[in-house]
Amino acid sequence: MKHLIGGISSAGRALPEINGQAFSVARSHGPWLWGNDGERYLDTAMGFGATMLGHAHPAVVDAICRAASNGLMPSFAHGLEEQAAASLASFTGPLSQVVFVNTGSEAVHLACRVARAATGRQQVAKFAAGYDGWFDAVAFGNAGSAAAAMAGPRPQQNGMWLLRYNDFDDAERLFQDCPELAAVVVEPVLANAGCVAPAPGYLKHLCEVAHRHGALVILDEVLMGFRLQAGLSGHLLGADADIATVGKAIGSGMPVAAVVGKPEVMAVLTDGRANRAGTYNGAPPACAAVIATLEQLRHQDYPALLAAGDATRARIAQAFAEHGQSVCSSGYGSVFTFWQGSVVPQTYQQAAACADQGWTERLHAALRGQQVLSMPFAFGRAYLTFAHGAAELERLVEGYRAAALSLA
Ligand SMILES: Cc1ncc(COP(=O)(O)O)c(C=O)c1O
Repeated sequence: MKHLIGGISSAGRALPEINGQAFSVARSHGPWLWGNDGERYLDTAMGFGATMLGHAHPAVVDAICRAASNGLMPSFAHGLEEQAAASLASFTGPLSQVVFVNTGSEAVHLACRVARAATGRQQVAKFAAGYDGWFDAVAFGNAGSAAAAMAGPRPQQNGMWLLRYNDFDDAERLFQDCPELAAVVVEPVLANAGCVAPAPGYLKHLCEVAHRHGALVILDEVLMGFRLQAGLSGHLLGADADIATVGKAIGSGMPVAAVVGKPEVMAVLTDGRANRAGTYNGAPPACAAVIATLEQLRHQDYPALLAAGDATRARIAQAFAEHGQSVCSSGYGSVFTFWQGSVVPQTYQQAAACADQGWTERLHAALRGQQVLSMPFAFGRAYLTFAHGAAELERLVEGYRAAALSLA
């Protein structure tokens, strides 16, 4: 009898067996994974966005090892913590106050607590089909769930309400249904529903409506932070948030996340209105990873990566077309989702109508046969990083071309 539940510690990261064989990773480096089958795979899952630099970036690994050799958890404040906070805050504009935690789920949990304490209100809203972590309050209305369809009265559970992404009027209606909201939690791009991009002016509108009703805006940037620019994607896309959560890319694979916020809002964490705690929060290796990662990201050419990624996804769609299949993609050059058909989904309802789990799994299996690893979920994403150079992108297009042929 095996002991690890489901063979992996997060159900969302399980891969299907192929020919009765379970896949496990022997090691990873740059854009590559080596499997227990001895093969090298080009990775497009990239820790589900947990790195922009590629696996095991040497500068980050060195910094982590040096910090670890000085002690993993010294109990009291240490020099790297403020240095990491200052570095992070240099990218987040008015959100200048930082608390480190270990995971994105914890960051969202703490951000909601801060918003409740700062407003004196209890209810919070999140987006139907958004994913804001696995803690009870927000693990509701995820993509594919019955609640996310928002078919009847506005779904709500344990003080968490759902609203429709990219629906300008629904933002107003939300506050008619629940006038006393502490905050709206928003992924700047509805990435967990298959990279649904914000409509022009949508994030600005949402923030304006929330603020007019006395609610705060929490940008959940755990996935999108540092993915479109060195900083918050929401800032690039027009959001005016009070609090943001970041994780994944800030640590290049180390378990580290953070809440960043405006000083007047984050004051609740020091004046006794909200507590913060955590044995491992801000541990030296995590802070070292953040400092080393952000130092690298500061100098990366984001526009070039986004352009190369856009060109690659266009070439992949073309490869499908050459084999008689209509495929399009939503998202951006560093994170995107392929859909069957020619209409890029602009809402979750449209994404749900296009989602075809069987097709995604067949594509995953065909790509695996080409030594390319993709997320096997209909609302999953392909992630590109600065480690995916021209040769790897060429290899990716060829892998998809062969997969398209086998699916034809
Ligand atoms: C937008 C968003 N928020 C929160 C989380 C939760 O982060 P973690 O898995 O680190 O707890 C995720 C994870 O994928 C995410 O994509």
